[in-house]
Amino acid sequence: MTDPASERRRMAAVLSNKGVLKSPWLRGAVEAVPREQFLHPGVFLDEGRTWRPVTALGTDPDDWLKIAYSVDTLTTQLDGHLTADQTGEPVAGVPTSSSTDPTTVVGMIEALDLTADHRVLEIGTGTGYSTALMCHYLGEDNVTTVEVDPQVAARADAALETAGHSTWTVTGDGLLGHPHRAPYDRVIATCAVRRIPYTWIRQTKPGGLVLATVGSWPWGTGLAKLTVGEDGTAEGTIIGRSSFMQARAQAVTPVAGDLSARTAYADSERTALVSPLALDEWMPAFLAQLAAPGAQFVCAARSDGSPLRYLFDPERESFAEFLADGESWTVRQGGPVALWDDVERALVAWQDNGSPGIEAVRLRVTDRSHLYWIDSGPLLRWEHRLA
Ligand SMILES: C[S@@+](CC[C@H](N)C(=O)[O-])C[C@H]1O[C@@H](n2cnc3c(N)ncnc32)[C@H](O)[C@@H]1O
Repeated sequence: MTDPASERRRMAAVLSNKGVLKSPWLRGAVEAVPREQFLHPGVFLDEGRTWRPVTALGTDPDDWLKIAYSVDTLTTQLDGHLTADQTGEPVAGVPTSSSTDPTTVVGMIEALDLTADHRVLEIGTGTGYSTALMCHYLGEDNVTTVEVDPQVAARADAALETAGHSTWTVTGDGLLGHPHRAPYDRVIATCAVRRIPYTWIRQTKPGGLVLATVGSWPWGTGLAKLTVGEDGTAEGTIIGRSSFMQARAQAVTPVAGDLSARTAYADSERTALVSPLALDEWMPAFLAQLAAPGAQFVCAARSDGSPLRYLFDPERESFAEFLADGESWTVRQGGPVALWDDVERALVAWQDNGSPGIEAVRLRVTDRSHLYWIDSGPLLRWEHRLA
């Protein structure tokens, strides 16, 4: 029979060989925290179009441990309510809670540059596994974790108790932080946000860090690491690619239905200077979200199979529709914001400046705005104002 402790050591070795796990204390935590206890009542395994429910109770213990210590994201909830014990059959659905891939979790915790006396606020408790890793080092009193879904929070709280941590598990909207236990040295979000809430910065000590994934698309999102200044602003860089489920209050409702009705009236039509297929790539997609923050990218096909691409900004009632025309693309734009003009300008400026990677992007957050910029070019600057 497989020994869970040896599975944990194996996983720690994998993470260490990948260059993700570096700190001895975190290695100790990975080798000590029983991930399988945080997956109750079970997980959904990705089968392409459907999710296969697997519960601890109905599975051979060795197989269950193999799943628990796979270096992979394990989805624990679909569509905001469904857990693996509630269905015997593979189901379709959208993941709404999970134990994130340990590579990501450990990488993010390493990026927090923790010392043993730090007080941490975590947004998006999920299973509580990442919370437990931090509690192992900081102690339960120094970790506050906020989960929006009451059932998910209750399961995580129970798992944390079982693992020996009576953590401050708060049920609520993490976008508000948790002022009652502020100030914190570190804020870490394990869900993505379109905009970093100023509450997180306000609740962080000067010199403290905020670490969160920014963006609203399923790809083309980046991990922002910001240092909070004495003046109440925060500044830093995008330290790499990162992908997370959206914070529920900021989640985007996907554009669906009759797309031809949305694009019926165009104000302009021209040949695109850049192919919209560029947006399939991570960095161009990130730039598109900076240049057109409310826009969604939609991929579709005509009945003859030829590709169709769209940008929609439902709030601004604006669209760009792309029609393949041999090697080139025609873009039709409608509404008050010429979405593709904005995105294309960003992409051209980025290419003209040597196509720097996502790590070149800097971000400054104040109570009024997010300012993103890349030092290499004056046109590589995007300000999103709240007021
Ligand atoms: C990817 S999971 C968290 C992973 C978790 N830290 C782990 O590795 O075990 C994201 C979680 O964020 C939660 N969430 C989404 N929006 C939230 C919000 N506004 N406030 C707090 N939690 C939120 C979801 O319910 C979900 O459980």
